[in-house]
Amino acid sequence: MSIKLYRASILHFLSDPDVDGEKAYEYFEDGALVIQDGKVLETGEASALTGKYDNADVVDYSGKLIIPGMIDTHIHFPQVEVIASYGEQLLDWLNNYTFPAERQFEDKKYASKIANFFLDELLKCGTTTALVFGTVHKQSVEAFFEASEQRNTRMICGKVMMDRNAPEFLTDTPESSYQDSKELIEAWHEKGRQLYAITPRFAITSTYEQLEKAGQLMAEHPTTFMQTHISENKDEVAFVRELFPETKDYLDVYDQYGLLGPRSVFAHGIHLEPREHERLRETGASVSFCPTSNLFLGSGLLDVEKLEKEKVSYSVATDVGGGTSFSMLQTLNEAYKICQLQGQQLSPLKSLYLATLGNAKSLQLDDKIGSFQADREADFAVLDYDSTPLMSLKQSKCKTLFEKLFAMIILGDDRSVKATYVAGELAHEKQ
Ligand code: GUN
Ligand code: ZN
Repeated sequence: MSIKLYRASILHFLSDPDVDGEKAYEYFEDGALVIQDGKVLETGEASALTGKYDNADVVDYSGKLIIPGMIDTHIHFPQVEVIASYGEQLLDWLNNYTFPAERQFEDKKYASKIANFFLDELLKCGTTTALVFGTVHKQSVEAFFEASEQRNTRMICGKVMMDRNAPEFLTDTPESSYQDSKELIEAWHEKGRQLYAITPRFAITSTYEQLEKAGQLMAEHPTTFMQTHISENKDEVAFVRELFPETKDYLDVYDQYGLLGPRSVFAHGIHLEPREHERLRETGASVSFCPTSNLFLGSGLLDVEKLEKEKVSYSVATDVGGGTSFSMLQTLNEAYKICQLQGQQLSPLKSLYLATLGNAKSLQLDDKIGSFQADREADFAVLDYDSTPLMSLKQSKCKTLFEKLFAMIILGDDRSVKATYVAGELAHEKQ
């Protein structure tokens, strides 16, 4: 197969820049990214690689910045239209806006339409992998995987399991949720680039019997993922304590049913207690930080420094439609402000590390995506420092890479993404 060489500034991470400083990343101002068969051959200085691959087809993005495709570790595809719903916090927001919207996904045609819209929106933002909630309907997840398979995107999705504290039109049973999830795992997990996540919505909407089934699925399919919500909102936490009085805390509900492991992702985790942090660390499970959602729903400020100190693995995510943007750049912008409000700092290098290799690591997918090390899948985004007049003006005043990246994060969004490539193929190009 032919070799392609993309010429641009190239940035990717090898480790956490807060730990390893300059050794944590490679940056080639006049760089090249060399791709063959949808995988990375190598990256480096253009001066070295253009000669070495003199037969390659060259695509010239000089002046732009190529980074690995961004990764979103928590998002709901059926909530595209729920975005920007006024005036409620979590539990009322779910009942008044979210559940009625999710009802429509009973109709597979509707689910396909929204799945296609959703994936195009992610690609527009330079996001090439996401950990995605479907609805309670099995067909919603089939529609999603079909749309993702068409684009060859590496996506992780699961059917929501919920059998109580939700409208009847949106509930399943322990047995039907087990059966539907199992059939979806058999049909889709590791089919091409698709991966499955066992998806109990949260402790409030599952009976003991259903959580037990979720644990059984995890034990029977150890390479799948598990995604749920935890400690997002104080009323939610209080309700969980009422529903599960015999457990130690919120996390312990999930722990009792064997739902903690290195591929378990708990969205939010704002109000977790020290014991819960300790248990997350012990099991290698991770918290997904959803800044725009946490602000929009008034849920609270995640103490990122505490997670760092306690060595709890965490990632960053949009949480659309509680979140207000599909853009990971905008998400990192809000993450920065959440840190500022607590006297903490989130550097642009750490931010871009999180959106790429850090999130890949938290999903245990860093051997496949998140960097440009040889043999990684060639998902990448081309960012434009001249995407708007304001961005151009600001960038012209930036003297260092640090300043340029920070301005890209604070001012950037889908307009800053010139192109997105999936497994070496052009998947989005800004007009
Ligand atoms: N907790 C349970 N379900 C949801 C959801 O759909 N969105 C958010 N943000 N939190 C949840
Ligand atoms: Zn969510």
